[in-house]
Amino acid sequence: MQFLGMLSSNVAAVTAAVACLHWTASAQSTNSSSGLAIQLSVANNFLNGTTDGHVTVMFAPSGTDPLEDTDVTSSPNLFFGMNVFGVSAAKTMTLASTNAINAVTGVWGFPVVSLNDVPAGNYSVQAYFTKYEKVNRSDGSSISVHFPCGDGAPNVDGFGSLTTAVLNVSISGDPQSVDLVFNNITATEAFTGKEIGGCSQGNYEDTENLKYVKIRSEALSKFWGRSMYVGANILLPAGYDPNDTETRYPVIYSQGHWPADAGPFRYPSANFSDAWDNGTIPAENGKPARPTPKMIMVSFRHETPFYDDSYGVNTANLGPYGDAINDELIPYIEKNFKTIPEPYARIQIGGSTGGWISAASAIFRPDLFGACFSSYPDSLDFHRHQDIPLYTNTNAYLRANGSAIPSIRDFENDTQVILATVAQENHWELTFGTQSRSSLQWDVWNTVFGVQALNGYPLEPWNKVTGEIYPYAVEYWKHLDLANYIVTNWNNSRNLGKVLSGRLYIYVGTWDDYFLNEGVQEFQKRTDAIGGAGWANITILPEKPHGGNYQSREIWDSLELFYDWIQDHGPNGTTPLAKNVTLASARGNNFTEVLAYGGHQAALQRQSPPSITGGDHCDGAGGCVFQASVGRWDPGVSLEAQWLISGKPVGEVFEVAQGDSLSYAPTTATKRSSIQLQVTGRKLGYVDETRKSNGIQLRR
Ligand SMILES: *[C@@H]1O[C@H](CO)[C@@H](O)[C@H](O)[C@H]1NC(C)=O
Ligand SMILES: *[C@@H]1O[C@H](CO)[C@@H](O)[C@H](O)[C@H]1NC(C)=O
Ligand SMILES: *[C@@H]1O[C@H](CO)[C@@H](O)[C@H](O)[C@H]1NC(C)=O
Ligand SMILES: *[C@@H]1O[C@H](CO)[C@@H](O)[C@H](O)[C@H]1NC(C)=O
Ligand SMILES: *[C@@H]1O[C@H](CO)[C@@H](O)[C@H](O)[C@H]1NC(C)=O
Ligand SMILES: *[C@@H]1O[C@H](CO)[C@@H](O)[C@H](O)[C@H]1NC(C)=O
Ligand SMILES: *[C@@H]1O[C@H](CO)[C@@H](O)[C@H](O)[C@H]1NC(C)=O
Ligand SMILES: *[C@@H]1O[C@H](CO)[C@@H](O)[C@H](O)[C@H]1NC(C)=O
Ligand SMILES: *[C@@H]1O[C@H](CO)[C@@H](O)[C@H](O)[C@H]1NC(C)=O
Ligand SMILES: *[C@@H]1O[C@H](CO)[C@@H](O)[C@H](O)[C@H]1NC(C)=O
Ligand SMILES: *[C@@H]1O[C@H](CO)[C@@H](O)[C@H](O)[C@H]1NC(C)=O
Ligand SMILES: *[C@@H]1O[C@H](CO)[C@@H](O)[C@H](O)[C@H]1NC(C)=O
Repeated sequence: MQFLGMLSSNVAAVTAAVACLHWTASAQSTNSSSGLAIQLSVANNFLNGTTDGHVTVMFAPSGTDPLEDTDVTSSPNLFFGMNVFGVSAAKTMTLASTNAINAVTGVWGFPVVSLNDVPAGNYSVQAYFTKYEKVNRSDGSSISVHFPCGDGAPNVDGFGSLTTAVLNVSISGDPQSVDLVFNNITATEAFTGKEIGGCSQGNYEDTENLKYVKIRSEALSKFWGRSMYVGANILLPAGYDPNDTETRYPVIYSQGHWPADAGPFRYPSANFSDAWDNGTIPAENGKPARPTPKMIMVSFRHETPFYDDSYGVNTANLGPYGDAINDELIPYIEKNFKTIPEPYARIQIGGSTGGWISAASAIFRPDLFGACFSSYPDSLDFHRHQDIPLYTNTNAYLRANGSAIPSIRDFENDTQVILATVAQENHWELTFGTQSRSSLQWDVWNTVFGVQALNGYPLEPWNKVTGEIYPYAVEYWKHLDLANYIVTNWNNSRNLGKVLSGRLYIYVGTWDDYFLNEGVQEFQKRTDAIGGAGWANITILPEKPHGGNYQSREIWDSLELFYDWIQDHGPNGTTPLAKNVTLASARGNNFTEVLAYGGHQAALQRQSPPSITGGDHCDGAGGCVFQASVGRWDPGVSLEAQWLISGKPVGEVFEVAQGDSLSYAPTTATKRSSIQLQVTGRKLGYVDETRKSNGIQLRR
């Protein structure tokens, strides 16, 4: 593939600004403007056969561990990433100034884009090599991805990655080659060899009240063409007796990131754990001592090749995780634990990613879950995707006035401080993987909310380098825009206006670190407009940041709120959940339909070849005019065109853009020759493709 100069000067300005913000080692101010090359090789016995993958090279301040801080908001590192193909122990890979900012191999640097711009000085340098596996999926797509191994799919140092030693390197500013050898492997999780699925989704030892389950998912395994697993961590209440045939408990499904071996509360205080285990909440906060609410708490282990969790729904890029969790794993839990298997006694909770998952689970599966208590969720309405007006802006990184769109903020002394912009985060992600494979936030949103591109990877909603939004791709996000989904299914056979009324509880603070209050406010605007004020129970608390329990409550207070809802909506409660709001007819997010809309066959159907019309009024001396269109391609594909006469190229190759209408008056055509337009499309991660139009025969 060729690189067609997609970096406009505007982009260079954005990335330069990024570099200034992040690289503050002003002592190292001499530019290294001449060739710096990193030569990477694999030591004997560290690789059998050949593999594709992604290499990330990190330059850390001298004497520090490059892994110590890799976060976009605080890392002092320089990151460079490169896709590698057909690597064997015998082959040397080169990451060099000549191929920096190179779309062919996907070399990318952050915060400095090119190796040429690494400031002279001393560094601790280390490289990681994430190996990809090629999979053939049931919808006909083939992709190369890394399958995580019970480690929650980290972006750089996943189990099984090859690593180099940390090398002290002095960058001189003169032409220089740095040799790094992959001679170690990131240790994989302890594994006795007996657990199903090996390291996938991890393996943990049960304790008295925390149990670990893992199943092979039929639905996911069918889609991915290999065995796929999902797991759960199950915290039992005090007094739970597996031999008791009478007592059954409601279940709180607590959604969120990779929990590893932790219970459904990630940061429980010792006091909380003791009280949970002994069954008595101590007197505090002006409330008397009382029994703990007796419920089973469940969190899920669903690391995927694209992130530490699947977002718990069915998607074209990740497959049927919604079905795997809701229709395979939950029935397994209900069979093996003393649960009340009724919607009123299945409650969804979670914050942030878990806030979105809990809301989406309740919205798509009112037949299964009674209610959600969703805290500071990822965008529920893409009119604001964090702070990006996704449906109306032309760029995801810049506002109309040219200022950078922020992504992470903090409030210090009541004053907002921006910690990272959307551009910075996306550019940083690119160093860990292209085609949405960084295992980081913006990429997984592209993966979950978007459909498949023609090449099988997620159809990205904007150019990851420039931020240019592709409305064509954004259009496909609408079925996972939860406000849009509710409004468009308000009074059809799903009847969501009535079915979901009184069942969605959503909380966010106005100082949310990731601007997630904006998506909640948009969701509220749209659902209130159709259902009346308060259709969904939305709490927006002033000056609260991201984090904490529902409505910023103390932990027991929040659990008692959920418990009371369950009692009120149970068969003996004041407002029992009606049978007609839990019918299967209200289900959404059907995987067959998701795939038909966004899978590989849909990607093929979106394409069209160039076409040509005209040539009706030719006379012997010429005078023919043809009109042509370039056809339909995925957004971001750069196109060049060429006229053909009787199959032979005529004139220059010229650049065209999608949507262009071309006209052509051939001068050299002779009688009975056929006129065609040929268009070649190129994009990073795509195989070059040439498509020909129909041919029109000259008649006279
Ligand atoms: C380093 O390069 C930048 C960008 O090309 C330039 O603005 C700056 O003046 C250079 N600094 C030095 C010390 O040469
Ligand atoms: C390569 O194959 C050999 C012989 O089968 C095996 O002992 C070794 O562990 C393999 N190495 C890797 C990195 O897979
Ligand atoms: C870099 O390391 C070299 C030795 O490798 C040393 O001579 C030099 O003083 C160091 N430079 C700085 C800025 O620490
Ligand atoms: C995927 O399909 C290709 C082409 O049919 C085949 O060569 C390859 O072995 C398949 N890979 C797997 C993992 O099944
Ligand atoms: C390999 O990496 C492990 C950490 O994963 C480290 O403990 C060990 O010292 C490394 N071995 C070598 C030879 O660098
Ligand atoms: C449940 O019953 C089995 C068989 O009677 C017994 O071995 C086990 O200890 C009992 N478990 C508990 C928690 O009482
Ligand atoms: C239960 O644990 C809580 C929290 O540590 C403690 O305050 C309380 O005294 C304990 N109650 C009993 C009955 O052990
Ligand atoms: C906030 O106030 C404290 C105390 O007055 C001060 O030390 C600190 O620098 C202030 N921070 C900012 C960002 O203004
Ligand atoms: C369920 O039935 C009740 C009582 O007949 C009715 O008022 C309500 O509108 C129905 N709800 C739905 C979602 O059909
Ligand atoms: C919204 O939910 C809260 C509990 O979170 C409850 O106190 C409040 O009454 C509810 N509001 C409405 C209008 O139902
Ligand atoms: C409802 O009340 C009846 C009568 O008191 C009781 O038998 C039944 O167990 C209760 N059901 C639930 C779910 O609490
Ligand atoms: C999903 O949709 C397909 C095709 O429309 C249908 O055959 C299937 O029964 C649906 N599945 C569920 C669980 O509703």
